[in-house]
Amino acid sequence: MPSLMHRRSHHSMKRFYDWVHRYYGSIEESIGPALDSIIEGMPSVFADAGSKTALDYACGSGLLTLKLARRFSVVDGRDASTGMIGRAMERANALSVFNASFRAGDIMEPDEAPGSYDIVFVSFALHLFHPDVEREILRKLFAIATEAVVVIDHGRRWSAKTALIEWIEGSYYDRFITLDFNAMANEIGASRFVETEIADSLVLEFCK
Ligand SMILES: C[S@@+](CC[C@H](N)C(=O)[O-])C[C@H]1O[C@@H](n2cnc3c(N)ncnc32)[C@H](O)[C@@H]1O
Repeated sequence: MPSLMHRRSHHSMKRFYDWVHRYYGSIEESIGPALDSIIEGMPSVFADAGSKTALDYACGSGLLTLKLARRFSVVDGRDASTGMIGRAMERANALSVFNASFRAGDIMEPDEAPGSYDIVFVSFALHLFHPDVEREILRKLFAIATEAVVVIDHGRRWSAKTALIEWIEGSYYDRFITLDFNAMANEIGASRFVETEIADSLVLEFCK
């Protein structure tokens, strides 16, 4: 029986986002307010942020990165798509944000040194990957962070609209919303794990 599932390869995903970045404005408008609520809803993550550094992996057009830049001393964004990175740089210039920088980077092979950032963020990107790959990504990002990895992504309640968008995106949304992230936290060696939902989005904190 032919599968209705549509999963993109690494290269197909990059090509997809190199094309999509031109039309990402409507996504920014829909995700932006949710990210604001999420930031307001996790005060402990942002305690003393003014003296800390953050890394935003799979940052896309810098939607979260530029919001983090208002709170952290320095924020760096990485993304596989040079189209998205270009859009992020343009947005940073337009908003006069000078403590955020962007460059290409592969979340599956991050090249940042262990312990080089206080907090590592991943928003609306972990669901793109097979669960086994997600675990390895979390393990690698956890090594980069001195304090925590914070994942923001689709909420656990299945939505037909999101499922359609994710089919086009070629992600693992259907698997992602069923995963046991508490077990993954144990596997990567997190000493504390918090799962919450804010603004219909999943917020996962993997703490050192
Ligand atoms: C749905 S967008 C989310 C972007 C942004 N974090 C946000 O919240 O708006 C997913 C992003 O993941 C990026 N991405 C996909 N595969 C990647 C990889 N292997 N390494 C780094 N970024 C990747 C895409 O280029 C895209 O910008």
